[in-house]
Amino acid sequence: METFIGNNEVIFEQLRQKLRSTGNKACVHSFGCQLNVSDGEKIKGVLRKIGYSFTDSYSDADLIMLNTCAVRENAEDKVFGIIGSIKHLKEINPDLIIGISGCMSAQEHIVEKIKKSYPQVDIVVGTSAITLLPKLLLECLDGKKFSADITEYDSFSENCEQVRESSFKASVPIMFGCNNFCTYCIVPYVRGRERSRNACDIINEVTNLVHNGYKEIMLLGQNVNSYGNDLQDGISFPELLIRLNSIEGDFIIRFMSSHPKDVSDELIDAMSECKKVEKHLHLPVQSGSNSILLAMNRRYTVEKYMGIINRLREKNPEFSVTTDIIVGFPNESDDDFEQTIKLLQNVRYDNVFSFIYSKRTGTKAAAIDDKISEEIKGKRMRHLLEVQCTIAGENYKRFQNKIIRVLVDGECHRKQGFLNGKSDEFIIVEFEGDKSLIGTFVNVRITKTMSRSLYGEIVRKG
Ligand code: 5AD
Ligand code: SF4
Repeated sequence: METFIGNNEVIFEQLRQKLRSTGNKACVHSFGCQLNVSDGEKIKGVLRKIGYSFTDSYSDADLIMLNTCAVRENAEDKVFGIIGSIKHLKEINPDLIIGISGCMSAQEHIVEKIKKSYPQVDIVVGTSAITLLPKLLLECLDGKKFSADITEYDSFSENCEQVRESSFKASVPIMFGCNNFCTYCIVPYVRGRERSRNACDIINEVTNLVHNGYKEIMLLGQNVNSYGNDLQDGISFPELLIRLNSIEGDFIIRFMSSHPKDVSDELIDAMSECKKVEKHLHLPVQSGSNSILLAMNRRYTVEKYMGIINRLREKNPEFSVTTDIIVGFPNESDDDFEQTIKLLQNVRYDNVFSFIYSKRTGTKAAAIDDKISEEIKGKRMRHLLEVQCTIAGENYKRFQNKIIRVLVDGECHRKQGFLNGKSDEFIIVEFEGDKSLIGTFVNVRITKTMSRSLYGEIVRKG
């Protein structure tokens, strides 16, 4: 087990004493991907240990932690907007502490910008907040005006407590960082190199979660297919799936994300054989043009990608496949974009998460002189969404009159008395039912299909 320097009892005790004379309600707001949300749950674990309780409201808080994302510029703009909008709260509560953590604040240029233009911010920490936050908080409570430390620690916290958002869905990071350096992506710069957790620790964590009633285990990593490559005697990701599948209990194992360059036949076999593993593969393709894939440093071709899809579908024709697409990578031509549309039509994804390319300072692609206008990028995006909507609408018809298993997520906001959940294929399903069913598996007979979701009726058991 690695040392967890955030678990410093001396600092914790000093903080507990100081907090007796100030307020101790914290609002931790995480943005972006599930890995960041998982970090936010661990930040809360550290804060709870120190003596904080939690609120969802900025105005009730004595400590606001914005746990940020840096993947696209709009995520950063949003956070700067919030930092501006909470400035006045310091006049109402002079003891209020504002902290920024996560991928966005792990960048030097952002730290400088905050220091220069946002004096209301007290603490800046990067992706190692779980380790560094107690030290910075103590400095701040001791009167220091601005405390920043964006050092990235290799170690991760096996014994860190976590305040989980859900009582039935749990994210379990299996590795941290990324070695791939896709030319558009900031992640390798803010989250460092790949570090895999020991399989035993992961298996123990999942066993405990299942024992405590968790029904969905989401395994997380930037590229789960390279899990274990950095460990001596490390087991592979397919082997990890097999071992987790053998844990007793009624639960579903999901995972994301997979890099196409590392998908093996063993993964496809494990997905077919392990009955607790979802019937779904999220396989980000990013573009359907080989020249753009090369410029993105993705290290696969469209042909290789199609080979994986075909192998998966030969074994499991009913599985769902989803992807991520970047529209408007620098100098993407009409022809490149057409090839992406063609790929969508060939693969026939159940869902596509599409993003307009966002220039990220420090990445290789940021240096490319982009000749394509924002207007063209917007037009391409709208076209892609239309094409995908038609494909999904057609695809979802395969579920008509079928009975599928759904994990009930919550109540439908739009329709009273209705619930929604996700099928094993990761498709949204809506149906009438009592809210006591939230967090359980139900079988639903599909009576209507649309392009974003399925509708049906619960089929009573027995
Ligand atoms: N611009 C737009 N989208 C991006 N993604 C990553 N970096 C960028 C960027 N600079 C998308 C990719 C990735 C998903 C998580 O976010 O599609 O798979
Ligand atoms: Fe970013 Fe590529 Fe790593 Fe995914 S695999 S986090 S897109 S660099």
